[in-house]
Amino acid sequence: MDDKALIELALTARENAYCMYSGIAVGAALLTDSGKVYLGANIENASFTPTVCAERVAFFEAVNKGERGFKKIAIVGARAGKMPSEPFYPCGVCRQVMAEFCGEDFEIIVSSGKTYKKYSLKELMPHSFGADVF
Ligand code: THU
Repeated sequence: MDDKALIELALTARENAYCMYSGIAVGAALLTDSGKVYLGANIENASFTPTVCAERVAFFEAVNKGERGFKKIAIVGARAGKMPSEPFYPCGVCRQVMAEFCGEDFEIIVSSGKTYKKYSLKELMPHSFGADVF
């Protein structure tokens, strides 16, 4: 699956964002080593802290299905009802979850809709805390 197709899927995923508190709708599409794509949208809560980001929804969907190898993720975000126009970067908690399940070469595609930038996990999460300390 090429980057642009994955971004299109992230835009589709974004349509399911439950974001009545922040008004920010985010979508993510996660490609596994086996070629499957898992989608996620942010899911908010009136109590705020239970809110889960789109990226983690996609990861947890995949991990819960037994997936353990991941190639890349496309992320799009913007005010609900508006098309993304700026790249949307994953939060620190989502980067930590990526570090749990992905290697340094895992690709993170942040898209403004038309254009996109691509980073390795190592670039966005250098010196990460992980399983190697245990
Ligand atoms: N959000 C994501 O879905 N992904 C991120 O990486 C950062 C933030 C969501 C959480 C919340 O619903 C809204 O964006 C505003 O923070």
